[in-house]
Amino acid sequence: MTNTVAIGIQWGDEGKGKIVDLLTPDVDVVARFQGGPNAGHTLVIGDQKTVLNHIPSGILHENTACLIGNGTVVDPFHLVEEMDTLIKAGIPVSERLKISERCQLILPYHRALDAAREAAKGKDKIGTTGKGIGPCYEDKTARRGIRLIDLKSDDLNARIDANLEYVNFMLVEYLKAEMISREDVDKALDLARERLLPLAADVPLILQRHIKAGDSVLYEGAQGSMLDVDHGTYPYVTSSNTVAGAALAGLGVGPGQVDEVLGICKAYTTRVGSGPFPTELYNAEGMNCPSGKHMAERGQEFGATTGRPRRTGWFDGPVVQHAVRINGVTGLAITKLDVLDGLEEVKLCVAYELNGERLESIPACCNQLDAVVPIYETLPGWSENTFGATSMDQLPANAVTLLKRIEEVCECPIAMLSTGPDRNHIIHLH
Ligand code: IMP
Repeated sequence: MTNTVAIGIQWGDEGKGKIVDLLTPDVDVVARFQGGPNAGHTLVIGDQKTVLNHIPSGILHENTACLIGNGTVVDPFHLVEEMDTLIKAGIPVSERLKISERCQLILPYHRALDAAREAAKGKDKIGTTGKGIGPCYEDKTARRGIRLIDLKSDDLNARIDANLEYVNFMLVEYLKAEMISREDVDKALDLARERLLPLAADVPLILQRHIKAGDSVLYEGAQGSMLDVDHGTYPYVTSSNTVAGAALAGLGVGPGQVDEVLGICKAYTTRVGSGPFPTELYNAEGMNCPSGKHMAERGQEFGATTGRPRRTGWFDGPVVQHAVRINGVTGLAITKLDVLDGLEEVKLCVAYELNGERLESIPACCNQLDAVVPIYETLPGWSENTFGATSMDQLPANAVTLLKRIEEVCECPIAMLSTGPDRNHIIHLH
């Protein structure tokens, strides 16, 4: 049985939900290891669209155990709403889902801090999803976070009081925002106690039992490698490690329990929020190259969680090369190839140049990354329709040439190719 980590290797929104959903029938467990309601994984089954934020994409499958690991952050209001939507659709969520008792809770003051800090930063804002992710991870590291299991703890009240004293000082005195009341926090805690605590579990123990029984596990990442707090475009990143290695710490498994790393990326690049984007062509701030507009419109590039228009640009080879390296990617899953249909020419960034020198890897400093000049290869496009293709021989020769160059530039074979939103719109290669 193969245990696979499936992660995004650009700036998020690579189409992970669909790929994970496709892999799920062949696995026994799907486990989330980082992030929280900032993630938006869209599944399209038939004509029904489901967006999941906390819950692993395997939840729609019978006989698949879904686990939310300790590395994630959980918003009780949001997760319960997500559960109720699935329950209304007839999915027996509580039979399939377990949540690590060590998960950190996102409380109302985390969302308030996220919003107030972004407002205070003005034009320098990160462009967060506003879900309280950063402040929650910050509390975890500062050792004042509240975990699911802490709802049973005798000192919970005292810890919440201490947190509120600190947070309200920050909100009111420093950020000039409104204070958060104890009642607001209690509502979240009561809901978590009533609906989430019954699903709390020792996730490493469950995982170990599955693995010992020969079951296969799919470790489902959120966001993308370029949003990783260490390896991404810091500080324009999310607050967790999004790389494949985070699956281990975020669930409590060892390195020997991962066999494959599937790196999911689009045939072009998108980004939401602020921060460097060397191959950018199109954005809501007035960059308006027709090829980028084509990608935005044809790719329906709007955030699944926030609805914000995404910035679009050409496939960035150095970004994917970097991701292949830091994640140990064993195969690429390229999504949205069909979005490039109809472009006269397609560009592929094969390297960056900075101050006239060709770079070997991407700079760690955002100012330098902002200043790099992409070196492009220009390939002829195709007018044929690749939408829904299910085998390589249905693809135009020019699309195949682009894919071959992507493999060469990124030094990684393509394992899967997605040609549309539906489960059937897929080509399996390796
Ligand atoms: P946060 O995770 O809400 O703190 O946002 C930090 C940065 O990560 C912002 O640029 C967000 O737009 C980006 N981000 C967070 N989650 C996602 C995601 O699931 N897809 C794409 N971008 C994301």
